[in-house]
Amino acid sequence: MRALELSTFALTLLAGGMPWLFACASAPRPAAAPSGAAAAAPGGARSGGAAVVPGHSGGAAGDASAAAAEADPHSFARPSEVAVEHLVLDLSVDFAARRLSGRASLRLRSKAGADTLVLDTRDLDIQRVTLEDGKTEAPFTLGDSVPHLGRSLAIRIPPGTTWVHVDYATAPDAAALQWLTPVQAGSALPLLFTQSEAILARTWVPCQDTPAVRQTYEATVRVPPGFLALMSAENPTTKTADGIYHFRMPQPVPSYLLALAVGDLAWKQLSNRSGVYALPETLERAAWELADTPRMMAAAEKLYGPYRWGRYDLLVLPPSYPYGGMENPRLTFATPTILAGDRSLVSLVAHELAHSWSGNLVTNANWNDFWLNEGFTVYIERRIMAALYGKDYADMLAVLGRQDLEDTLREKGTDSPDTRLHLDLAGRDPDDGVSDVAYEKGALLLATVEAAVGRERFDRFLRGYFDTFAFQSMDCRRFVAYLKAHLLDTHPGLAESLRLDDWIYAPGLPPTAITVRSAAFARVDQAVAAFAAGAPPAQLDTKGWTTHHWLRFLRNLPRPLAPARMAELDAAFHFTDTGNDEILDAWLLLALRNAYEPAGAALERFLIAVGRRKYLQPLYTELAKTPAGAETALRIYARARPGYHPITRAAVDKILDWRE
Ligand code: BES
Ligand code: ZN
Repeated sequence: MRALELSTFALTLLAGGMPWLFACASAPRPAAAPSGAAAAAPGGARSGGAAVVPGHSGGAAGDASAAAAEADPHSFARPSEVAVEHLVLDLSVDFAARRLSGRASLRLRSKAGADTLVLDTRDLDIQRVTLEDGKTEAPFTLGDSVPHLGRSLAIRIPPGTTWVHVDYATAPDAAALQWLTPVQAGSALPLLFTQSEAILARTWVPCQDTPAVRQTYEATVRVPPGFLALMSAENPTTKTADGIYHFRMPQPVPSYLLALAVGDLAWKQLSNRSGVYALPETLERAAWELADTPRMMAAAEKLYGPYRWGRYDLLVLPPSYPYGGMENPRLTFATPTILAGDRSLVSLVAHELAHSWSGNLVTNANWNDFWLNEGFTVYIERRIMAALYGKDYADMLAVLGRQDLEDTLREKGTDSPDTRLHLDLAGRDPDDGVSDVAYEKGALLLATVEAAVGRERFDRFLRGYFDTFAFQSMDCRRFVAYLKAHLLDTHPGLAESLRLDDWIYAPGLPPTAITVRSAAFARVDQAVAAFAAGAPPAQLDTKGWTTHHWLRFLRNLPRPLAPARMAELDAAFHFTDTGNDEILDAWLLLALRNAYEPAGAALERFLIAVGRRKYLQPLYTELAKTPAGAETALRIYARARPGYHPITRAAVDKILDWRE
C-alpha cells in the first residue's frame, strides 16, 4: 500500500507537478475568513495576512525545491497536489483525561483540479471534517495503520477548496505528549509538553508531517486557570485569568517544529529579546545558568546574519524531558540536566540556538538528510562556543565529539550504511537515523571544508547559503550542487580531493577528515597515563579542570579498572556525589563496567529521576549485559518507567525486552 502511494507520488512529480508550485509559491492569496477559524482566533488575529511573511516567498507549503526533491518516505502527504500553508488550532487541554481535543483548520494551496488533501495522523480520533465555512461535511478515509507512520487521512475536497477543518482528539498515550503528574513534574500542578521531531507531530495535530512542507500557524489553547501555556510561537510571559491563550507564528515552519507546553511556569528576562521559562523554584537557577544566551545570539548573528524569529526564549523542563534540547522556534525546550551550577553545559544552548539557522531556517527536506540539520548545527554550535569562550574550549568539544564519532563508527561497523551522511531510512523509524554520524561526521565534513578553503571564505559561503535558502527545505543533492557552484569549483579539483561524494554517500570516515587537537586534553591524558601507571588519584594534576576535562578523563581511563581503584577515584574526586549530570552519567557507566557497587544507589536514583534518553540508553544497555544486571534493570525500570517520556520508554523497552 505504501509502495503504491509512493509511486503515485513519483508519477505526479514526473507528470510535471512542480511548475505549478513555482507559480503559486510567489503569489500568496489573502485568506478568506472561515467561521470556524475566525472563532478559533478571536480578536481579529485572523487577519488573512498572517501567512504572508514579508521578505520571503509566501510562506507556503513547500517551496518548489522540496517538491522536486525525493519523496519523503515518512509521510503520506502529497503536497505537490494540495499543500497546507496555514494552520489554525483551537485546542482544549484536559489533564484528567490526558487528552487534547478541538479543531485544526488548514488553509490550502492546491494544484488546479486537485481533489484530495492527504494528511498524516497517528492515534488520532478524527471526529468530523468540514470545509470552508464549517457547515459542509467532507468525506474522509483513514488508511490502514503503518508501523511508525500511523494512518493517512485522505479528505475529498472540491477543487479550489481553501479551508478544511478537522475536529479531533488525541489518544492518552500519544507519542508526542508527556503528561506529568504533579509529583513527576516536581510541581504543585501537572505539566504537559510535546516533542514533535521527527514524525510525532501527527500524534497531536493532523498535518502534512514532512519537513518539506512549511506553514504559518496560530492557535487558541484552553487550559485550566492557574496554568501557563507556551508554544513555538509568540508567547505570553504571564498567566491569563481565564486560562485561554492565543498564539501566532508568522514565520512558516515545518510540522516537527510545532510545540506546546502547559504547566505552572514562570518567566524571567535575560535581555530585551530573550528569557527563560521554568517552574518557579527552578527559575532563578535556570536564569543564572543561561545568562550568556544573549551573547550567543549576538555571536551567531555576526557569523550568519540576523536572527529571524523575533524572540529567543528557553523553557527548562522537568528531568523526565527525553532530550537534551529541542530547537522549537522562539522557544527552545531544554533538560534541567544542563543546570550544573557552573554554566559548563551551555553548549546545549549554543546548539539549539544554532538551529535557528541550520534546521529551522534551512530545513532538511526529509529525514534521510538529517545531517543537514544536525551536522551544520554542531559545527555552528562550536563556532558560537569559540566566539564566547575561546578556541581551546571549542577544541575540547570537537575532540570529545570526534571520540563519540569513532565509538559510534566502531559500534555500527565502518561499512554500515547507517554511517553514511545521506541515510536510507525508508521503512524505518527516522529515530533510527539519529546517531553521532549525522552530528559529528556532519560537523567534521564542514570543518574539513573550512580548513581547505579558509575560514573567511567558508563563513561567507555559509551566510550566503542561509540567506539564499531561508525558509526552504534542502536535500543533499541540492546542497552539494550549491557547495560546488559557490565554493569548491573555484578551487579546481577540490571536491574530488576532499572526496566529497564519499563523505556523503559512502560509509565510514574518509581519510581527508581533519584532526582537531586539544592542548588542554594533552594534560588530561598525562593524568590518565599517570593513574594507569599506578599513581594515586590525589597526586594527579587536576587543578583548574572543568567539566570537559573530567569527561575526557573518565572516558579514557584504562579498562577494566579494579573496584578498589574506582574507590580511590571516588574518594579523591567524589564522582558518585557530583551534581553535574554529564559527569555523573559518565561515572555511572564506568561504575557498571567495573562492577563498582558503591555507586549502585546513585545509579538507581539517577535512573528514576532523569529521563534523558542519551543517558539512559547506554546505562540500561550496560546493565542488561549480565543476568544480575538485567534483573536490577527490570526492578528499577518497573518503578522508573511511568515517569519516562514515551520516546524514552520505547528505547528502554527495546533494550530490556519489556512487555507491559
Ligand atoms: N533536534 C535535536 C533533537 C532531536 C533529534 C529530537 C532527532 C528528535 C529527533 C536537538 O537539536 C538535539 O540535537 N539535541 C541534543 C543536544 C545537542 C546539544 C546535541 C540532545 O537532545 O541530546
Ligand atoms: Zn540538534
